[in-house]
Amino acid sequence: MRHLLALRELSPQEITDLLDLAELSAVAGRGEQLSGTTLATLFYEPSTRTEISFELAARKLGAGVVRCDVDRSSVQKGESLVDTVRTLAGLGADAIAIRHPSAGAAHLAAAHVRCAVINAGDGMHEHPTQGLLDLLTVRRAKGRIAGLRIAVVGDVRHSRVARSAAWGFSKLGGSVVAVGPATLLPTPGDGLPLHLTTSLRVGLEGADVVMVLRMQRERQAGGDVPTLAEYTRGWGVNSQVLRAARPDAILMHPGPANLGIELTADAAYGPQSRIAAQVAAGVDVRMAVLAWALGRERLLRPSLARRRDRRKTFVANGLLEFDQSRTQTPLAEPASTIRND
Ligand code: NCD
Repeated sequence: MRHLLALRELSPQEITDLLDLAELSAVAGRGEQLSGTTLATLFYEPSTRTEISFELAARKLGAGVVRCDVDRSSVQKGESLVDTVRTLAGLGADAIAIRHPSAGAAHLAAAHVRCAVINAGDGMHEHPTQGLLDLLTVRRAKGRIAGLRIAVVGDVRHSRVARSAAWGFSKLGGSVVAVGPATLLPTPGDGLPLHLTTSLRVGLEGADVVMVLRMQRERQAGGDVPTLAEYTRGWGVNSQVLRAARPDAILMHPGPANLGIELTADAAYGPQSRIAAQVAAGVDVRMAVLAWALGRERLLRPSLARRRDRRKTFVANGLLEFDQSRTQTPLAEPASTIRND
């Protein structure tokens, strides 16, 4: 049993192993690797893709899922975070995916339960599964992370997505530059591994990846930008602005996007966008993280081998054209290798 609380706490090798495991999960597809285990999701803040992808990932690997509806739970009667997670663990949860508005909430929970705790976003601190899915999306698009320049544009100061990205990309050899108005950039004393610039043109120059962030209005003190329209004029990303990056740059956004504020629809749905790929990678990453946290990651490997064997038999019998569409990952064997076996 392991917790996943922050990418800052993982070594480059552990991060790479999790990305490789996510590729294995994508190829292995459905299975029973987590059968007999239960994931509880406990979200104190709204979520669409993160919560649903945790649920889908758990179900795909055969785990049971219970959703603790905070608005209708004993939290409304004043129950503390610690009591709530202890109750979920006492009811039989093997893993708890927790999202909370306070930085450190996942660490606090992990200190009080024996089951695995996965941080699904804690205030302005970290969002490690988002960081992993961002890394996976870039690795799938570019084949590597090392040597890439990643421009993170927008409200970096209040963003846990940016903090996990800064740690994840820099640990794997990428260089991260934060771009935005000075009021929305982290202070240099934050110790984050990133460069800072207020100039969108300077930040995007030479960028392989442009990651746009939502204005975290729920976390801003007010007065960080004079008006949203002025923010959009200075730092909004559209397909014209994207031309300042490398011609083969990809565009990312963790979602939910406020189209027309930090990003225009033409860019979000344009040819450089990998936003849909990020959503899909989220399920693969969360399958891997759940298997890893519950000590079942080895079970993902035999299922991969079994599927390959089945395909080999079909191909050998001339019953099936080898379908590469789901297996074009750095770890998958090409069809020719399998045919010649
Ligand atoms: C982000 C979050 O909640 O931290 N969303 C997500 O998980 N994909 C980003 C945001 O809310 O802006």
